[in-house]
Amino acid sequence: MDENGIRGLAIASQDAHAAFGGVVPEIAAREHIRSLDAMVRHAMREAEVGHADIEGVGVTAGPGLVGALLAGVNWAKAYAFARGLPLLGVHHMEGHLFGTALEHVGAQPPFIGLLVSGGHTLLLEARAWGRYRLLGQTRDDAAGEAFDKVARRLGLPYPGGPQIQLAAERSAAGAAAGGAADGFRLPRPMLSRRDRPGDPAYYDMSFSGLKTAVARVAERLEGEAGLADAVDDLAAGFQEAVVDVLAEKTRRAVEQTGCRRVVLGGGVAQNSRLREGLAERLGSSGELYAPSPRLATDNAAMIAAAARFRLARGERSPWSLNAEAALAFPGLA
Ligand code: KG4
Ligand code: ZN
Repeated sequence: MDENGIRGLAIASQDAHAAFGGVVPEIAAREHIRSLDAMVRHAMREAEVGHADIEGVGVTAGPGLVGALLAGVNWAKAYAFARGLPLLGVHHMEGHLFGTALEHVGAQPPFIGLLVSGGHTLLLEARAWGRYRLLGQTRDDAAGEAFDKVARRLGLPYPGGPQIQLAAERSAAGAAAGGAADGFRLPRPMLSRRDRPGDPAYYDMSFSGLKTAVARVAERLEGEAGLADAVDDLAAGFQEAVVDVLAEKTRRAVEQTGCRRVVLGGGVAQNSRLREGLAERLGSSGELYAPSPRLATDNAAMIAAAARFRLARGERSPWSLNAEAALAFPGLA
């Protein structure tokens, strides 16, 4: 067992998608079916547990790509039914909150949750585990999706988030060494000093326009044959804009709710500039919890943690549990 109470954790990354510049649903579903048995066996061996030690089965029921979800849901149903175990379908994004809590004892409600992944961007107030108030969300692209799409436009490989971060770090190093400073001041969509609490725009986000703004600059630079030299600075400008929006929306949530504790979750939570920006914006009174890369990226430990909480309070999913591409966040007040 590791220091976070995780006994065994196996993660399979699907490199096959990189060649296509994004996740191919059909491949994702087939890879799930191909590797599920072996992954469970691997995790159980690491945990040194046998089938008789398992007390319940948690599985991601949504939201996401339905083919991949169905592979997991069917595997979980078959296993639970065969062993006579309780089954619990988990919401992927609620799982991300539990992922951070696995690593940080302080990451407990009440807190402001900022969930940033490839498919979702949510700002919420967690009053208790399982009791949430949605404050805001993206109206178009998710933050991670914007990172991936901008990276692709700049000719960087998939997944784009880590690549953008690296490019931005090169840009900062160049500026520190006396090179050109970040000259690309990109728009901050849905962020205005005129926003007031109660306006839907106060907490909501939008990243599609920002992505288009990057594309427009990239097109102009290509015309001047200067894109290659500007990729790092442009990536830095994009990342700064995303961080600015996310950090300010989170600060507003802290100010309005009086809840100083902030829990970050999802793949984009690995972005070090985002963590810095949040820490700066929240100030010394803020209490920020961010997951390590291992638990920020999609993993089964966070799903197990969410399932354990719900199973312990008596919840069960029926054998008719189905995968839902657009599953609603649970427990919203
Ligand atoms: O939560 P996650 O692993 O999968 C989904 O549920 O979508 O998040 C994946 C997303 C991708 O869009 C990826 O580009 C982004 O997280 N990501 C990052 C970083 N590392 C991963 N985005 C920005 N900076 C990073 N360092
Ligand atoms: Zn995720």
